[in-house]
Amino acid sequence: MTPDSSKVSSIGAVLTNQDDRLWLEFWLAQRTDFHQSLVNPLLCRFWPSLESTRSSRVFVPLCGKSLDMLWLSQQGHEVIGVELSPVAVEGFFRENGLHPVQRQVGQFTLWNDGNLSILCGDYFALTAEDIGHFDTVYDRASLTALPENIRGRYVEQLSRLVPNTAKILLLTIEDAAEDATVAQANGIDAEITSLFTSKFDIDLAYVESVFELDPESPQLPAKRAEYKVYRICVR
Ligand SMILES: C[S@@+](CC[C@H](N)C(=O)[O-])C[C@H]1O[C@@H](n2cnc3c(N)ncnc32)[C@H](O)[C@@H]1O
Repeated sequence: MTPDSSKVSSIGAVLTNQDDRLWLEFWLAQRTDFHQSLVNPLLCRFWPSLESTRSSRVFVPLCGKSLDMLWLSQQGHEVIGVELSPVAVEGFFRENGLHPVQRQVGQFTLWNDGNLSILCGDYFALTAEDIGHFDTVYDRASLTALPENIRGRYVEQLSRLVPNTAKILLLTIEDAAEDATVAQANGIDAEITSLFTSKFDIDLAYVESVFELDPESPQLPAKRAEYKVYRICVR
């Protein structure tokens, strides 16, 4: 597993405490290629289509130190992230000139400044009581950062936490199979369907095809990837 593993079909390891240790080590060693130094443009473009009211509460699972949280808070939302690494959480508040207070919430340490909060701890240990009510979920490179065989557990946990009225904005980067037809490449990914379909309706809002070099093997030919935006809601 690599810290920049944000592709739907690119990872196959088993999530264990060893994976948790790996994430913690990545943050300590600053191997955080997945972190974006700018707000994600697809968030800015597609967030308004969810029609979330200004003061509504947004849950950001596996949030890292994403600047997207800052943008969401600037739109008037209360933001609650969950992140395993205290290095990421501390970095988020310090790098953005914020002055958080900390307190214990169940097994988590809650860091808070104004309308920005992060629960530091394991997403899979989160209870509905820990997180409280929220209206919207924003997931960029969270579900897809997990090994394939753990993604089902991620969605089950989300299903347990998510209120029936909540909407999810899910951003993915999917490897386009060499032999995929245009319709397959431009459609809802089969894995996304199988993960969400039992409880959720899925709307594919946007697809963008790009040719990208693998940063770890730039000598190889560029591969086609699909950037997709899904709007998902409880059925
Ligand atoms: C690929 S990064 C994505 C971060 C963020 N969504 C972004 O867009 O920058 C995945 C993050 O999930 C965190 N993480 C991994 N497993 C976790 C878990 N079980 N509970 C909470 N956070 C976790 C990692 O530390 C890492 O910061």
